[in-house]
Amino acid sequence: MAQPPLIAQKVAFQQALLSWYRVHQRKLPWRTSPSLYKTVVSEFMLQQTQVKTVLPYLARWLQVFPDFATLAAAPEEQVVKNWEGLGYYTRARNLHKLARALAPLPAPPRTREAWMELPGIGPYTSAAITSISFGTRAAVVDGNVVRILTRLTADATPFRDSASASKALAPLADALLNHEEPGDHNQAMMELGATVCHRQNPLCTICPVLQFCTAGRRGEPESYPRLAAKVIEQRAVSRVWCLHQGSLLLHRTAGDARRLANMHELPAAEHLDADESVFAKANLLATKKRGITRFAITESIYALPLPALPKASLKRPGLVWVTIDELDALTLSGPHRRWVTELLASVK
Ligand code: ADE
Repeated sequence: MAQPPLIAQKVAFQQALLSWYRVHQRKLPWRTSPSLYKTVVSEFMLQQTQVKTVLPYLARWLQVFPDFATLAAAPEEQVVKNWEGLGYYTRARNLHKLARALAPLPAPPRTREAWMELPGIGPYTSAAITSISFGTRAAVVDGNVVRILTRLTADATPFRDSASASKALAPLADALLNHEEPGDHNQAMMELGATVCHRQNPLCTICPVLQFCTAGRRGEPESYPRLAAKVIEQRAVSRVWCLHQGSLLLHRTAGDARRLANMHELPAAEHLDADESVFAKANLLATKKRGITRFAITESIYALPLPALPKASLKRPGLVWVTIDELDALTLSGPHRRWVTELLASVK
């Protein structure tokens, strides 16, 4: 039977979604005892990161920085150190800047527009924070919501990427927003995307809004959204493992760099200005694969004794010798922390 358009069933849709959320939501710290601060920190952490990864970080963060004032007063090094392993470190720096921007105000702003002016806050975070904390009528749209909306309406528009899809679907998200409960409605959409409307093998049989979902009823939810396949570029990086008299050679990225500012990593060939001939005779200790944005990177870590490194290369900016005892206190990017720990254990 032909379906009435989704908008005509808006109230029934909202009720089905909210009733489901009230019963099935996961008990998460920013829900069980909410505060503006917890909402802000969790929304920053949850960008590009899954709930289960965020939970231990959030628990520790709230111990170390219990409120905006403590966070604002902390040195940046300490803030980034407590983000170690979560990746996308600009989020930590922006959260710190945000705390510092809020500190002198008599009270945090309450409108979405005012939040949009603050560091690290975009359309998604401003809608999430103000709807959850102040009941502002602003709908969130992220990858999860795009998936739900395109499936509900079997929208076959080919989108260039998730950002352009989010922009195109914002009017529909706004039209479906529950004006009485915007915060819970938004969190219910996120929850549905995370726990039921999966990218692959969505759980349509237990979906609370299947009756409103054109793609689900047709049995073809996985055909939506139609996003252009990401062009993945392969990259190879050679890295140096040089342990000399109890100290490890690391590279510290400059403080004004866009990525990884002030963070330590095993030096790459470019940091030493070393050409491939340096690696030709070296012992390959480990090969690691990882993905960053649109790059698939293969990292080869070579053991190089100090005499094998060109003398001039050691004078290059950013190279530092760190004793094994000092390593814990430094901030290493997540993968490098794992690799260094693993390699130190294997050379012992
Ligand atoms: N992802 C982003 N924000 C979230 C929230 N508040 N709850 C669950 N998942 C989320």
